[in-house]
Amino acid sequence: MGDVPDRTLSGKVVVVTGGARGIGAATARALAARGARVAIGDLDEDVTKRAAKDLGADVLGLRLDVTDHAGFSAFLDEVERELGPIDVLINNAGIMPLAYLDEETPETTGRLLAINLEAVIHGTREAIRRMKPRRTGHIVNVASIAGKIGAPGGATYCASKFGVVGMSESVRYELRGTGVEISCVMPTIVSTELAAGLKQTRMSSQVKPEQVAAAIVGALEKPRFDVFVPARLGTLGRVMAMLPRRAAEWVYSLGGSDMLLASAVHSSARADYEQRAAASAPAEDATH
Ligand SMILES: NC(=O)c1ccc[n+]([C@@H]2O[C@H](COP(=O)([O-])OP(=O)(O)OC[C@H]3O[C@@H](n4cnc5c(N)ncnc54)[C@H](O)[C@@H]3O)[C@@H](O)[C@H]2O)c1
Repeated sequence: MGDVPDRTLSGKVVVVTGGARGIGAATARALAARGARVAIGDLDEDVTKRAAKDLGADVLGLRLDVTDHAGFSAFLDEVERELGPIDVLINNAGIMPLAYLDEETPETTGRLLAINLEAVIHGTREAIRRMKPRRTGHIVNVASIAGKIGAPGGATYCASKFGVVGMSESVRYELRGTGVEISCVMPTIVSTELAAGLKQTRMSSQVKPEQVAAAIVGALEKPRFDVFVPARLGTLGRVMAMLPRRAAEWVYSLGGSDMLLASAVHSSARADYEQRAAASAPAEDATH
């Protein structure tokens, strides 16, 4: 069989949640540069509008709290009114408050699951409902390598990301033959505010948000489900999965990779980020 030609992103309507900063902003910028019509949604209206302006002249910036499910649906409606039917939804908004589980408050647990998992499920369902009748579309869920391997100091974060991987894998089967694609993005540590205070190790050096953005662009142009960043993480994961647990844990501990999140739990370098994450509250009227 010959090579399938790359899908063009020019003119496609793309939505990025949590697009005002970090990976979301880098992805929105890369997509706008490819001629996509991009909308970003993020918590603070002024910050989002400023970010949109900075990302490209035609980028639409709207306020969005992904935990307000009715508001999330209304946001997607508004994007469709302004730009046309949504071709790509990138569920990227997420937070990573760090704590040992016995020190984590129930409020933090709830906030983490509401933003990182429930909102991604809601966004995915909304996108399918809009895309399936048109027999075209692509959903990109930003999980993490923390959705494949547990890490002390980030138990609920890992739970949320394992959830996103499992949900996305299941939906991939449900979407067979519908013309709608789904991808799951699993980066290592990325140099954004969310990763403040995390150390680099030999086995897990940080990548830049632009590298994640490039991988997402690649997966949209040539659809594939697993998007590891860097790509070699996928191979490493397959090898680790074949090892007995003790051997896998030993490999994981080489160079301190297993303690990456734990070592930053009480780090003062994370104070500003932890404060911002704590304010990314689920909407009081969050509906399901
Ligand atoms: N940085 C990393 O090391 C890393 C690694 C793997 C995966 N990820 C994932 O990538 C995604 C983006 O993270 P980032 O590193 O760019 O973080 P970031 O903090 O730089 O950006 C996340 C954005 O999401 C927004 N957001 C938070 N709660 C929201 C809500 N309720 N509604 C709407 N927007 C909301 C924030 O305001 C922020 O602009 C997250 O899902 C994160 O878990 C990050």
